[in-house]
Amino acid sequence: MSNTQSNNIYPIFDRMMGREDKESLLRQRSVMVWFTGLSGSGKSTIAIALERELHQRGLLCRILDGDNIRSGINNNLGFSPEDRVENIRRIAEVSKLFIDTGVITIAAFISPNNDLREMASSIIGKENFLEIYVNTPIEECERRDVKGLYAKARRGEIKDFTGVSAPFEAPEHPALSLDTSVLSLEESVNKLLGLILPKVKV
Ligand code: ADX
Repeated sequence: MSNTQSNNIYPIFDRMMGREDKESLLRQRSVMVWFTGLSGSGKSTIAIALERELHQRGLLCRILDGDNIRSGINNNLGFSPEDRVENIRRIAEVSKLFIDTGVITIAAFISPNNDLREMASSIIGKENFLEIYVNTPIEECERRDVKGLYAKARRGEIKDFTGVSAPFEAPEHPALSLDTSVLSLEESVNKLLGLILPKVKV
């Protein structure tokens, strides 16, 4: 499908202002901060706190988050393996646009397996991609059950629920792992700042 559709397409990226122009305008370098982890692990909470800290330091960020994206650009996608691929593919393409605009881009999606995350990293560019594993144990995610989804999944009311009736594959070499049952939010954010600030400051 994509091959036939792309036959008559002539991208003009080479004539547009580039990433370096945008980065020097913003006086920062962009990077992709890609959170992966179970539902309820703390990805969104950490992403939001991280954005606030970076913003306060004069750094421009954009968060892309599961529930927001799935109610907008990806509102036609479910949780089958095929739909999860398309979900992450679109998110990665959108992220790349932000990265190319010089913006520090923070994605918080379950992205439950290595193939999905590798696809995202190859679309965005491996050199830009920081994989952060929020490895809060499932028992803790389920105990929190902020959205009541684990209970529904256990009752069989949601199918293909990650960690219950669909797999989650841990990343092999994340840049950082954060277990929110052990670390405070501040501790997690401080670890992230230690990793990210040297990469984005000019
Ligand atoms: S992903 O697997 O495709 O990366 P994504 O992060 O976009 O998932 O969306 C996950 C969010 O969708 C969860 O936090 C939860 O609120 C909701 N959700 C609804 N159904 C499911 C399901 N079957 N599996 C996982 N999450 C689900």
